[in-house]
Amino acid sequence: MEINKLIKLGVDRIKGRPYGNPILEATLLLGKVLNVDKVYIYIHGDEEVPDFIAEKYLEMIDRRKEGYPVQYIINEKEFMGLDFYVEEGVLIPRPDTEILVEYVLDYIDRVHGNEDIDVLDIGVGSGAIGISIAYYRKNANVCGVDISDKALKVSNINKERFNLNNVTLIKSNLFENIDRNKKFHIIASNPPYIPKDDIEALQEEVRDYEPRTALEGGLDGLDFYRRIIPESKHHLHEKGLLIFEIGYNQNNNVRDMMEREGFINIETLKDLQGLDRVVLGIKG
Ligand SMILES: C[S@@+](CC[C@H](N)C(=O)[O-])C[C@H]1O[C@@H](n2cnc3c(N)ncnc32)[C@H](O)[C@@H]1O
Repeated sequence: MEINKLIKLGVDRIKGRPYGNPILEATLLLGKVLNVDKVYIYIHGDEEVPDFIAEKYLEMIDRRKEGYPVQYIINEKEFMGLDFYVEEGVLIPRPDTEILVEYVLDYIDRVHGNEDIDVLDIGVGSGAIGISIAYYRKNANVCGVDISDKALKVSNINKERFNLNNVTLIKSNLFENIDRNKKFHIIASNPPYIPKDDIEALQEEVRDYEPRTALEGGLDGLDFYRRIIPESKHHLHEKGLLIFEIGYNQNNNVRDMMEREGFINIETLKDLQGLDRVVLGIKG
């Protein structure tokens, strides 16, 4: 069958789903089995696809139809202009998280210039935050920690993929396995922040296939901020930056916690939808 026809067939099968972008998803899936990019699919619509490849593609389409995230099928998610490897068991990086990374890149330039600095990413997952910072700022020595073996496997794959020697990945329950005397210039985290009772209401793609350990932040979603904020003071240099991604309605709570722990110059950044998405402050 031809590329155009396969795309149409795929779109027809998955277009009833409540979330997603059927044309883009069908294009990504066909691109994956043909080992070509999106543009190739767009401009080679008449090209004939061998049956065994078409079958593989349609199997993937059926998997997607069941709600399985397309990024886990193709093992890839673009973040900060980089193609991250992802697989089931690790959170798929979200575009909103780029706001945090962009702030940190700009902050490094403004405050540290080219001087060598230490950055900690708590809950590194695929490496979206820490690996992007290490990729774009070679003077940043990034330590990424995660409690999940799968996250460490995937972040190590991405460290290799982008050929980085300024990244260290450690299995750790928050700060537990970090040297007690180690200090960082920046601590960044996108911790699990969904309240326990809100998990069931999430879209199927997230609820059924993304890891709970990456999502759930306790009864009110704030457990990780409660644990990280007080301890981060010990691991930050004087005037160090603490920066979090937050849930859209957690701004006041997280700001209060940071104020109570003596952080200053606290700021909130909004996402593209105008929702509170990032809170940051300086160790006072
Ligand atoms: C919301 S995900 C963020 C992943 C990645 N940083 C990103 O932004 O795409 C949260 C991460 O925190 C990790 N995590 C959960 N509990 C943890 C703990 N106690 N200590 C360290 N990491 C933890 C999860 O395994 C998950 O990878």
